[in-house]
Amino acid sequence: MSDFKVETKCLHSGYTPSKGEPCALPIYQSTTYKYDTTDEMGQLFDLKAEGYFYTRLQNPTNDAVAAKIADLEGGVAAILTSSGQAANFYAVFNICEAGDHVVAASTIYGGTFNLLAVTFKKLGIDCTFVDTDASPEEIAAAFRPNTKVLFAETIANPALVILDIEKFAKVAHEHEVPLIVDNTFATPVNCRPFKWGADIVTHSTTKYMDGHAVQVGGAIVDSGNFDWDAYGHKYHGLTEPDESYHGVIYTKQFGKKAYITKATSQLMRDLGSIPSPTNCFLLNLGLETLPLRVERHCYNAQKIAEFLNAHEK
Ligand SMILES: Cc1ncc(COP(=O)(O)O)c(C=O)c1O
Repeated sequence: MSDFKVETKCLHSGYTPSKGEPCALPIYQSTTYKYDTTDEMGQLFDLKAEGYFYTRLQNPTNDAVAAKIADLEGGVAAILTSSGQAANFYAVFNICEAGDHVVAASTIYGGTFNLLAVTFKKLGIDCTFVDTDASPEEIAAAFRPNTKVLFAETIANPALVILDIEKFAKVAHEHEVPLIVDNTFATPVNCRPFKWGADIVTHSTTKYMDGHAVQVGGAIVDSGNFDWDAYGHKYHGLTEPDESYHGVIYTKQFGKKAYITKATSQLMRDLGSIPSPTNCFLLNLGLETLPLRVERHCYNAQKIAEFLNAHEK
């Protein structure tokens, strides 16, 4: 639905019922799926056929909501996770391993700061933090030959610092690495980071996307724009055979969906932070009213800003 307005996408993207089917997205609360032969299941396990076989890897309710978020951001594919923390962990770990390095804006959410500064360090991945307002030269100075990712937030939580996405994207691309932007606070209603050069977007769907405080969740969306093959020596997890998955080469077999497919078939397989289908259903209900709520949040914020601006103190 890429030509439709955001209001229409929030209602209709990801799930198109046929005649006589339910208007509301069904909750497929099932771990497993029925097949007649073991051969059919084998084809699915080997990624030779498309279909559902185990909800840790894919589920129809989750997939519909992931497709809606991918469409809202203008990406090629998305994966949902059980929290925003899991989304940021997967987004970085999908292309980093022990010995690698990350550059990140220092104003990011505290949980993500700890993830990068403390937990990733234990996994052998170092992080250098740069000021969000730093010059391109200062950001560039933080890069090392083993840097694999530049990470920042559109609107930082809680500092509310606004990211110059184009500036960060330019530095990232000059160093041949993707820019990952956590777009939780802006939501795709206020900003679509791919338009300004970001390569991958993450969300804590727990916040505005949900809007009713009923589910904890996360999402990763890939723009499909970063050319992993051009820098295959850096991103060998995507461009060389995955021995843990029958030697599949993600970029070769899945093209622009390589990054999300690897996150699903490798990280979700091994780490398992899948959201429940019921939580995805609740998230979808929240998404349906996202543009209305964001409009009101902006209206309220403007009122408060004007009041404070005019206040003698
Ligand atoms: C910008 C941002 N990213 C990620 C997270 C983590 O998300 P979650 O609480 O869903 O794990 C948060 C949580 O506050 C956040 O504000």
